[in-house]
Amino acid sequence: MPVVAPTGYGTLRTGAPSAFTDPVRAASYEAWYAGPGRRPDRLETALLERLLEDLPGARLVLEIGSGTGHFGRFFVARGFQVIGIDLSLPMLLTSTPLGGPPAALADAHRLPCGDGSVDVSLLVATLAFVSDPAVVLAEAARVARIGMVVGALNRLSRLGRRISHRTEEPWRSATPFSVADLIHLAHGALRGRKHVVRWRTTLWPLWPHPLPLPWGDFIGVSVRWA
Ligand SMILES: C[S@@+](CC[C@H](N)C(=O)[O-])C[C@H]1O[C@@H](n2cnc3c(N)ncnc32)[C@H](O)[C@@H]1O
Repeated sequence: MPVVAPTGYGTLRTGAPSAFTDPVRAASYEAWYAGPGRRPDRLETALLERLLEDLPGARLVLEIGSGTGHFGRFFVARGFQVIGIDLSLPMLLTSTPLGGPPAALADAHRLPCGDGSVDVSLLVATLAFVSDPAVVLAEAARVARIGMVVGALNRLSRLGRRISHRTEEPWRSATPFSVADLIHLAHGALRGRKHVVRWRTTLWPLWPHPLPLPWGDFIGVSVRWA
């Protein structure tokens, strides 16, 4: 599907996703999923799918930071209608030939969507790269009618600790979170609105199913408005 540049969209945040504006990095991004990331990815997508099931009635999903469309393609194949937004044109242009869902060039800090205009907001590995995660989650909450699902690398995991010492991009630009960080951010984003939070982590290759352990590598959180 084509990349859509929304009309009237004026202000792109300068430099926000610098780690992903490199066309070479964008072009090679999917190689990880096809290679060393194949098995952890299977576990992560299964976790995210399970968390989306916590949000009954969800059909239209907005993936914020949709990148190369990897998760969008997965959820389209599962019967969801997915649209994406991303601030990196090279990532969006890589998504198109791979059959990614329709996606617009937009900033997660100022979504070009009306209040409650999608069922669910989905953010996978995006929050770590934005300038202001609290603003981005507040925007994700604003545009969603039912809830949101967030996937993120865990700063308390072995992998998270290893990556925090890496000095090359995109890791240099990443701010990983813990389960508690994400829940705290979600509470802030909901601004007093009642909600229900569920979370699990993955512990590949030690265990093939999501677990309620706060130190697993990849965190999945669902937040449903009550
Ligand atoms: C690690 S990639 C994740 C891509 C995809 N969700 C995935 O998991 O395969 C992070 C993505 O967030 C995007 N991003 C970073 N800051 C953004 C912002 N302010 N607005 C929209 N997208 C942003 C980057 O361009 C990049 O595509």
